[in-house]
Amino acid sequence: MRNTFAAALRRAAACAGLAVLALSGTAQAEALRIGLITPPPHRWTIGANDLAGKLAEESGGRLTLNVFPSGQLGSEAQMLQQLQAGALDMAFLTVGELANRDADFGILVAPYLVPDAETAAKLLEGPTAAALQEKLGALGLKGLGYGMAGMRIVILSQPLAEGGTVAGRKIRTVPLAQELDFWTRAGAAPTPLPLPELFDAYTNGQIDGMQIDLEGTFNNRFHDYSAAVLDSRHMIFPMVAVFSARKWQALSEEDRALISRLVGDETAAIRAAYPAIDADYRAKLVESGAPVVTVGPEVFGDAVESWYAEWRVKTPLLLELEKEAAALRK
Ligand code: BEZ
Repeated sequence: MRNTFAAALRRAAACAGLAVLALSGTAQAEALRIGLITPPPHRWTIGANDLAGKLAEESGGRLTLNVFPSGQLGSEAQMLQQLQAGALDMAFLTVGELANRDADFGILVAPYLVPDAETAAKLLEGPTAAALQEKLGALGLKGLGYGMAGMRIVILSQPLAEGGTVAGRKIRTVPLAQELDFWTRAGAAPTPLPLPELFDAYTNGQIDGMQIDLEGTFNNRFHDYSAAVLDSRHMIFPMVAVFSARKWQALSEEDRALISRLVGDETAAIRAAYPAIDADYRAKLVESGAPVVTVGPEVFGDAVESWYAEWRVKTPLLLELEKEAAALRK
């Protein structure tokens, strides 16, 4: 009896060994990891989970992707270091950390470049965005496409006077030079804070308002703490899907092609989703009684004009992006 059991165990072990050999016959099994700062219900995290499912399915289970949302692997600065060292495979990053290393990435948050999320998606499919993606190699990254979040809006804990501006308020921003400069020119005190820290900072009065989007406002119930939800749509908010260049080099041609195609499809789906996401969340906010008002560039004083005067000189690639945006607006 004992001998029969031992023989059965040996057979099972041999079968398992054969299965592993069969799997590794052409290419190695890979357990990949992707990090992102957005929480589980956010569209970017949903996209990362979709990607994980498709990768497992299309590779026959050989490639798996474990998703780490909500900054579980650290801040974007920390994730960027892990990607560069090859300790992390993939991330969906905002342009914040990229712009801090190469100012050209910051041109993507130029104020009033495009009027809506549809046009933003088209701009991110254009030649200047593609040229920026090529620059990621110098940062130890392989760019695999752009996603985006909703158009940026402003929420304030205290009301805006009739015809008033945002000057004098302490406003949360993403930490990149172009955004900080914009808010300084608007007379506000820009306060860089990452997404996971916003709720505490806003509800305990550390900041008077923030630059965010309609989706983030509703999902965090920030409108419950706001006297004004300014639907300004003054900037776009790109996401860059990146792979560690070190890890990319170690992949087979076949795996690179599969990952490129699936990430390209997923980022395209994210870009395509945002016009409806912006519209849905605006409707939800209005329905829930949030003080939503549409505002124009005047709420930023003369910040827009003076911002362009400075950044066209500092980052001349901005002029190319502006030309593309102007053509899309026609
Ligand atoms: C933000 O920091 O405002 C943000 C980050 C990722 C997605 C959407 C918004």
